[in-house]
Amino acid sequence: MCGIVGYIGKRDALPILINGLKRLEYRGYDSSGVVVLDEKTNVYVKRAVGKVAELEKSINGSDWLRPGLGIAHTRWATHGEPSERNAHPHADTDNNFWVVHNGIIENYKELKDELISEGVDFRSDTDTEVLAHLIAKYYNGQPSSPGRFFDAVKKTLQRVRGTYGIAVVSKFEPDKIIAARNSSPLLIGIGDGEHMVASDASAIIHLTKSVIYLDDHEIAEIRRDGFRIETLDGNSTTRKPSLLEWDAAKIEKLGHDHFMHKEIFEIPEVIENSIRGRLILDEGRAKLGGIEDAKDTLRKIERIIIAGCGTANVAGRVTEYMLEEYAGIPTEVDAASEFRYRKPVFTKNNLLLAISQSGETADTLAAIKEAKEKGISTMGIVNAVGSSIARDTDFGIYNHAGPEISVASTKAFVSQLVVAALFTIFMGRQREMSLTMGKRIGEQLKELPNLVKKVLAQENIIIEIAKKYKDMPAILTLGRKYNAPLATEAAIKFREICYVPAIDLPAGEMKHGTIALIDEKFPSLVIAPQDSVYEKIQSNIEQISARRGPIIAITTEGNEEIKKFAQDVIYIPKTLEMLTPILAVVPIYLLTYHIARLKGHEIDKPRNLAKSVTVE
Ligand code: AGP
Ligand code: GLU
Repeated sequence: MCGIVGYIGKRDALPILINGLKRLEYRGYDSSGVVVLDEKTNVYVKRAVGKVAELEKSINGSDWLRPGLGIAHTRWATHGEPSERNAHPHADTDNNFWVVHNGIIENYKELKDELISEGVDFRSDTDTEVLAHLIAKYYNGQPSSPGRFFDAVKKTLQRVRGTYGIAVVSKFEPDKIIAARNSSPLLIGIGDGEHMVASDASAIIHLTKSVIYLDDHEIAEIRRDGFRIETLDGNSTTRKPSLLEWDAAKIEKLGHDHFMHKEIFEIPEVIENSIRGRLILDEGRAKLGGIEDAKDTLRKIERIIIAGCGTANVAGRVTEYMLEEYAGIPTEVDAASEFRYRKPVFTKNNLLLAISQSGETADTLAAIKEAKEKGISTMGIVNAVGSSIARDTDFGIYNHAGPEISVASTKAFVSQLVVAALFTIFMGRQREMSLTMGKRIGEQLKELPNLVKKVLAQENIIIEIAKKYKDMPAILTLGRKYNAPLATEAAIKFREICYVPAIDLPAGEMKHGTIALIDEKFPSLVIAPQDSVYEKIQSNIEQISARRGPIIAITTEGNEEIKKFAQDVIYIPKTLEMLTPILAVVPIYLLTYHIARLKGHEIDKPRNLAKSVTVE
C-alpha cells in the first residue's frame, strides 16, 4: 500500500533511493528504510520511524561504499505497529536476502508457523518477513544456476496468497533486483546503463520517462543493462515501454487533480482490501483476526456504545442499524466529544466501540479512556495501524483502506461500513443469525466493488448536476433508516469542502419545523433507494415538491416515477438494504467534490481544518 523504490546502475544508489522516498512521501507512511549492497557483499541497512528526513539523518555519509544497487521503502503498517524493527527492508536469518513489500500476505500466519517449526526466528511482527525466509529456504534448496535467485523468489510467490508489490536483492547475486506484483502497482524505469523499480512513477520520473508497468502475477529480473519479465507460471513476456506524460504532481495523484478524487475512485479497491481474507462464505462467517481472541468476551456483550467524530460518527450510526437489525444487540452512538461529559450509565457486558480513521482523534481517545476507567471492554475500528486508538483499545479490526490524504474522508468511511458489516456478521452468527443470512450478506459484500464502479461511471451526469447547484445558498439533506446517517455525511461534505450551509435530518423530522425553509430557491438532496422505507421517504419528497423545493434524488436503478418530483436523479444499483449507504455515498462524494471544484476551493485541505484532530 505504500512506497517502493529500487535502483541498479552506475551511480551511487543511496542518494537516489532517499530522493525517491521523498518523492513518495505525499502518499502518507509511518516509517521507512533502505538497503544498499556492493559486489563484495557488503550490506548497508537503515530503518527509521517517522519522516524520511529521520532516515536520512541516521545515515552517516562515510559509512557506506557507494554501491550502485539498493532498494528502499516507505511503510504504512498493516501487520505490526510502526517501529524500527517492523520497518522494511526485511531479511532472512543470515541477512542474505532483503525484501521490501507493499500490500498484505493473507496466508502469512500459516507460512510463519511452517517456518517457525523449521527453526526460523522472526525479528518483526510483519507479514512481509515470511517472504525473506521463504526466499532463503528455496534458494538453499536449489542447485547453483544463473537463475537461482529469480527462481527462489518465484517459488516463494507461488506459495503466497494476497497482494504484493515487492523488490528483493541478494548478497549472492548482487547484480540484480527481482521485482514482482499482484494487485499492488510496480513499474520498471529504463535508463541508460541503469534501471529503477518503483511502486509509483513519481519516485523516478526525474530519472527517466520510459517505463514498463508490471502486470499481476509477473516477476522481473532487473539488471544494470537490461531486464526480463516472466509470469509466475513461467512464460516470458515482453512489451513496449510506455512514456510518462504527466508531470510529477499529476502522477502523485495518478492523473487525478485532487487526492479526494483519487480516493473516491479507489473505493472499489478499498472494499476488496477490507474484505480480503475475512469472509468464509460457505459457513456464512467472518474471520476477523484482531477480534478472534476476544470471541468469548464478544459473545457475552449485551449492549454496544459507539463513539466517533464527524464522518466516523456517521459510520457509527449506520453500524447501529446493522447491529440492531442483524445481530440483535442494543446499540447506541455517541459523539465522542460528548461521551465523557455526560454521565454514561453502564450495565453488565457493555462494549465501547471506537471508530476512527486516523486513530489519533483526541475526543475519541478520551471516550476510550473514560470507558476503561469504568471497566468496560473497548474495541476499535481503525485505519491507521499502531495508532493511539489501536493501542489503547482491548482489541479491534483494521480497515485496510490505505493512507487517506484528503482531509475530507471518503474511502475510509466506506471501509468503516464494510468492516461494520463484517463485524455484524461476526456478532450475528454468535447469536441468532442463520448461516443463510451470513452467506447472503457476505455475497452481497463481494458484489459491491463492481456496483460502485457502475456509480463512478456516472460522473459526467453528476458534474452537470453540480453545475446547476453550485451557487445554491444552502441545502437540506434527508434520508431514512440506513440512509438517515448519510444525510449527515452529505451535510458534512457540503459544509467541509463546498462551504455551503447544509442541514441534515432524518427525513421524517423535516415536517417538525425545517420544512418552513423550503421554497423554489432552497434545494434538498434526498437519499431514497427503494428499500423498506421508500414509501415513507417518497411522501417527504412529495411534501418538498408541493412547496416547489428543487430536489436532487439518489435512488435505485429503474425508478422512473421519482422523476415526477425530483428535477435531478442519480441512480445506484440494487443491493441489500444494509449495504445501500456504501453505494449511495459515492454520488454524494462526487457531487460535493465537483461543486467544491467548480467553486475553485482548495479541496484536499479545506480552510480551518486538519486531517487529524488531536486537540479537544
Ligand atoms: C470528514 O470528512 C472529516 N474530515 C472529519 O469529520 C473526520 O471524519 C473526523 O475528524 C474524525 O477523524 P478520525 O476518523 O480520524 O477519528
Ligand atoms: N504488510 C506490510 C507491513 O505491514 C507492508 C505494508 C505496506 O504496504 O507498507 O509491513
